[in-house]
Amino acid sequence: MPLKGIRTAFFDRYGHEPQVIAISPGRVNLIGEHTDYNDGFVFPAAIDRGMLVAASVHEPDTLTHSVQMGDGHPFGVSKATPGFTSSWSKYPAGMGWAISRYTEQQLPNLAAVVDSNIPIGSGVSSSAALELAFGVIWSHLAKLALQNRELAKLGQVCENQFVGVNSGIMDQMACALGKEGHAIFLDTRTLEIEYVHVPEGLSVVLCDTKKERALTSSAYNERRSQCEEACEIMQVPKLRDADEHMLYVAKPKMPDVVYRRAKHVITENRRCLLFKDALATGDLSEIGALMKASHNSLRYNYEVSCDELDAMAAAAWGAPGCIGARMTGAGFGGACVALVKTDQVHEFTEAVLNLYSLATGRHGEAMSCHIVDGSRILEA
Ligand code: GLA
Repeated sequence: MPLKGIRTAFFDRYGHEPQVIAISPGRVNLIGEHTDYNDGFVFPAAIDRGMLVAASVHEPDTLTHSVQMGDGHPFGVSKATPGFTSSWSKYPAGMGWAISRYTEQQLPNLAAVVDSNIPIGSGVSSSAALELAFGVIWSHLAKLALQNRELAKLGQVCENQFVGVNSGIMDQMACALGKEGHAIFLDTRTLEIEYVHVPEGLSVVLCDTKKERALTSSAYNERRSQCEEACEIMQVPKLRDADEHMLYVAKPKMPDVVYRRAKHVITENRRCLLFKDALATGDLSEIGALMKASHNSLRYNYEVSCDELDAMAAAAWGAPGCIGARMTGAGFGGACVALVKTDQVHEFTEAVLNLYSLATGRHGEAMSCHIVDGSRILEA
């Protein structure tokens, strides 16, 4: 994403230079799926598919324009309340709402242009990227000096209380706290993070099924309540506090579907911990086995995969240079993430797309991604 392009787009629209330009990456999650709202472990990485936002103070209303999505609904940053619009500008509006409530400061309104190369509907957190980009801009322009970690929490407040999606903290933490060349091992209970270097010679490849995610929020919320039901039966605060033995003991008291949901979360937490060690020691066969087990658990126990994601994962497992692959993000469409030997990325992408299209009749897209730093001001 060239900086010059967004500066020109801003100038063409508003007739002057922007005061500030921010960038926020999207993310992939290597392992630890549907564990964050269970106080568990996740392992995302920020990628070089992200958003640039150029902005200046502009009263009396905030005007937003996206190169990809067109104009957002205008809003007054101190006036917009939850549910005010279905337009994409609910994300910046919600972020402004969350920041001003938290800091008890009145924020300036903005004129802004957004340019994104995050594939739409692929489950790589375009909404968190948008929230965080506006977060760093408001923090900068209103001289609030908010830390990215605080902005990540406010991004989740925006998502949960303003936008109305009951998501966990993974996406915002990954976008906010990404580090070049490193995956982020995050304990979502304590919010402690550990950066683990991704071994040289391994590349992250995003394998997009081009099947847009469907029914995500209703099915997502249903999974959350099934996890809560499992906790009630096992009498633990969160599934993080349960282990396989407790699950085994409680099994006769659990509906089968609740048992399978809990089994996924409990085993996924364990896989995430094992994956951290495997990545740190470069144990490639263990990495591959854990990613495959994660995918299969999401497919059969958590039931958030779909035919296209299963076909893409199977295609990746059979393609040259693949170390491991699994669906990434909430599921029901979107993308798989694969770790691939860097010198075989070209052969891998060719094979994976051919195999995927033979299996589904669809055209997917494979993108090799760099792991990058988190949300920040690029120019001010
Ligand atoms: C979405 C949510 C995250 C997380 C994942 C599943 O991306 O926003 O909080 O729950 O799904 O791991």
